[in-house]
Amino acid sequence: MKKICLLLLSVFFISAIADAQTANQQDAKMNKFISDLMSRMTLDEKIGQLNLVTPGGAVTGAVVSSDVDNKIRKGQVGGLFGINGPDKIRQAQDIAVKNSRLHIPLFFGLDVIHGHRTIFPIPLGLSCSWDIKMIENSARIAATEAAADGLNWVYSPMVDIARDPRWGRIAEGSGEDPYLGSQIAAAMVRGYQGTDLKADDAVMACVKHYALYGAAEAGRDYNTVDMSRIRMYQYYLPPYKAAVDAGVGSVMSSFNEVDGIPATGNKFLLTDVLRKQWGFKGFVVSDYTSVSEMINHGIGDLQTVSADALKAGLDMDMVSEGFLTTLKKSLQEGKVTQQEIDDACRRILEAKYKMGLFEDPYRHCDTMRAKTSIFTEANRLAVRKAAERSFVLLKNNNNVLPLKKSGTIALIGPLADNQRNMLGTWNIRGEYNEDITVAQGLKNIAGNDITVLYAKGANISDDSMTIANVNNFTNEIVNDTRTPQQMIDEAVAVANKADVVVACLGEAADFTGEASSMSNIGLQQSQENLLHALVATGKPVVIVLFNGRPMTLNWEDKNADAILDVWFPGTEAGNAIADVLFGNYNPSGKLTTTFPQNVGQIPLYYNHKNTGRPLHPGDWHKFKSDYLDVTNDPLFPFGYGLSYTTFSFSEPVLNKTTISGNEGLTATVTVTNTGNYDGEEVVQLYLHDKFASITPAVKELKGFQKIFLKKGESKQVVFNITNNDLQFYNTDLKLVAEPGEFDVMTGPNSRDVKTATFTLK
Ligand code: BGC
Repeated sequence: MKKICLLLLSVFFISAIADAQTANQQDAKMNKFISDLMSRMTLDEKIGQLNLVTPGGAVTGAVVSSDVDNKIRKGQVGGLFGINGPDKIRQAQDIAVKNSRLHIPLFFGLDVIHGHRTIFPIPLGLSCSWDIKMIENSARIAATEAAADGLNWVYSPMVDIARDPRWGRIAEGSGEDPYLGSQIAAAMVRGYQGTDLKADDAVMACVKHYALYGAAEAGRDYNTVDMSRIRMYQYYLPPYKAAVDAGVGSVMSSFNEVDGIPATGNKFLLTDVLRKQWGFKGFVVSDYTSVSEMINHGIGDLQTVSADALKAGLDMDMVSEGFLTTLKKSLQEGKVTQQEIDDACRRILEAKYKMGLFEDPYRHCDTMRAKTSIFTEANRLAVRKAAERSFVLLKNNNNVLPLKKSGTIALIGPLADNQRNMLGTWNIRGEYNEDITVAQGLKNIAGNDITVLYAKGANISDDSMTIANVNNFTNEIVNDTRTPQQMIDEAVAVANKADVVVACLGEAADFTGEASSMSNIGLQQSQENLLHALVATGKPVVIVLFNGRPMTLNWEDKNADAILDVWFPGTEAGNAIADVLFGNYNPSGKLTTTFPQNVGQIPLYYNHKNTGRPLHPGDWHKFKSDYLDVTNDPLFPFGYGLSYTTFSFSEPVLNKTTISGNEGLTATVTVTNTGNYDGEEVVQLYLHDKFASITPAVKELKGFQKIFLKKGESKQVVFNITNNDLQFYNTDLKLVAEPGEFDVMTGPNSRDVKTATFTLK
């Protein structure tokens, strides 16, 4: 036995050494190729590689690049973004490869955020599936479509931890938890890049927005960020690091400042942490004009900020053209070095080499592939399944859901028959006129078995400022010619004829996303008025809630019978919603961000500190850390979500109550499906370090398993707790596990947990 083990071990080591040798040989080959190429490049051509331009397809800033063709010809462009389609991209690549002096191919990037042409649920929704494999597959499908559409680079995953639902970009990420966020970040990188970057269906991922963008003050986009290093390392940096560890090819710097220095010119972030501490080998691109925005931040003129950014570790300048127009002068004046320009240029050429662009710059320009692998039936089916798994059932009184496939349904609300708002933010290639609405979905699933009576009931909003600002960009809110009261009257009449009301309420797609912060995160007044009238009919009211952020829903929670949060579900919205409403799929999603009771509680998140004067849930005391007018409880806690069935959880059973050194232990919990449907449950594990040299959070997620249980079935779920799970960043920013007692908490969400305790000697 011993001999066999030794043999296996030596085979393992020999093959590891062989792999390392092959990797070294490949690196040597790449280095030689690039050194040779760079020896033939002029300074201007090197600087040209650092320039990323857009001809104006997807614009998120004031300027677009001009004279793009000519610049490509002159070797002044390293990459292009905002265009797609194999023919268009071939044309642009042709200019670079055939008409520029050194024939260096271009990168072609796009914001492929939650699917490319077949649109998946928004990332916040996808994260609520807690289904890492499925999320990886969503990125794989997006990559296949994007690559078939000519692209080789996608600006995703967005992994910014967000604790503030006013911030519109909370929709683009995976919520508030670093442990879950890290798993999703790595999964998405694997999904986009596949196992071989040179494969026809691989694209290079770009993790963003580095760093801490989700912590903008007051939830206002692009706003100042100021944070302690300990909070940064413990809660905000892990998902970016997870993407780096998963081999992400590129990183996008963020708009915000950190420690008074904009991230785009922040050496601590771009060099000390990213390259030196984490060993990142790819390249860093700025966000849209974030180089020139350093002028507004108050750092200096274009030449100064461009030099600062390069020196800090930025390699590619998106749209500002600060690098293109000032770096030569800065070199002449000794403000940057040749080595700094060479390093940035080399990193970009390396990325192109790794993508195989020097071997075949047209790998993604196959028009036949574009015809057969984009928006396929299989992709639509994957989107539908993903959407079903992303929905979170927030409330279900008296089991009003699932609906019977008989009788009359009053389908009411501004989002009930609304193709324009199903995809959510960032869907550049999505075609909303192909989306399935809820009205259509109900027909598709229940056909003639049910009668559906429809009334719009209200506009998404009647607030002129909100409408003007949203429609300025997207035209998503189309207001009715009738008065609000006429619409409500019609809706009430329809409700009175039905057995149940399905009210499709919530946000317009671009109430969230970039530059879409909101100070009121409740339903718009127009919809509140409608809902009050519907509830007053006495009919059971099911809210189907469309949203890109946690919303304040106190009245809704008290007065509606059921709330199904469907986020923005994507192309197959209506089919997925109808599947869940009728019980063809039993909802299994769990929140990945806390829903506050009101805006005044923000930031409200589950992994908070205890303070010296903690308040126990539901309680109020003078001289405790609380409010006079609201409890400290969230409306719905992190990890929360119901099912059509019910589950019971045993206490966690530990195999050891004392461990020492690097020893681990297991926690076993028995989960039983005690209800009337088969279903899935996300079994969650939280740890709490009782005393530590840095004040610990009250709990932190350290494990989860999504399991399927048939009605009546029980399963034991075993969590391995390792020394890594006990570690935190101490005051020297070293990861340590300190001796002492730890609570192990298991349950169906972050609130309803059962606890066992062990000691680390
Ligand atoms: C956004 C990025 C996006 C970029 C390119 C910026 O405004 O912040 O997330 O990738 O534009 O479109």
